[in-house]
Amino acid sequence: MIIAISGTPGCGKTSVAKVLRKQKYSVIDLKKFAIENGCVSGVDKKRDTREIDVPKLNRKLEPAVSEMAKDDHIFIEGHLSHLLDFVDAVAILRCAPSALAARLKNKRWRKAKVVENLQAEALGIITFEALRLRKCKGDKIFEIDVTDSSPEETASKILRIISSRPPKSGARISWSKDIMENAEILYD
Ligand SMILES: Nc1ncnc2c1ncn2[C@@H]1O[C@H](COP(=O)(O)OP(=O)(O)OP(=O)(O)O)[C@@H](O)[C@H]1O
Ligand SMILES: [Mg+2]
Repeated sequence: MIIAISGTPGCGKTSVAKVLRKQKYSVIDLKKFAIENGCVSGVDKKRDTREIDVPKLNRKLEPAVSEMAKDDHIFIEGHLSHLLDFVDAVAILRCAPSALAARLKNKRWRKAKVVENLQAEALGIITFEALRLRKCKGDKIFEIDVTDSSPEETASKILRIISSRPPKSGARISWSKDIMENAEILYD
């Protein structure tokens, strides 16, 4: 099975990938693969981020991963992995914006970039993109609440997808309560 691990930047994809690798699972770092295989089409200076040619990434990665997936489960970690055509399931890490703010601060990004990512998480943009842009069926998507989970606990939750008792699928998480409870931050 090929499983994408996606989520808003800062949710903990790379941290959980480390845990999965320690447990001897194969995890592809999508950003690294894109850079090494000429899938970077430019730089978005305003967002301080690389622009990735997703169709090219699909074309380059699919043959390599399909071969590897013949006798192994393969995880693909990256915030664009939910846009890959050939994955069997997408684990979308979801982190309540109030907790995500602290994780993003660790990255020492400028404020505008942090705020943009908090807004993306609040709106569930990754789930929306997986469902609408990729036309991914809801039963292939597994939103995983990582707000109060360690990377080890998140890894266990992801591994349930490949077990005989997978978690509930579909778009199930809303952060409205978290946002309203922390609304005074918006006032400051
Ligand atoms: N489960 C967790 N609980 C608390 N902090 C966490 C957790 N997972 C990750 N972090 C912290 O949050 C920060 C972001 O984590 P990480 O780099 O793994 O996110 P990411 O989703 O890979 O981000 P990016 O998309 O930018 O690569 C790091 O400082 C990390 O130590
Ligand atoms: Mg990362």
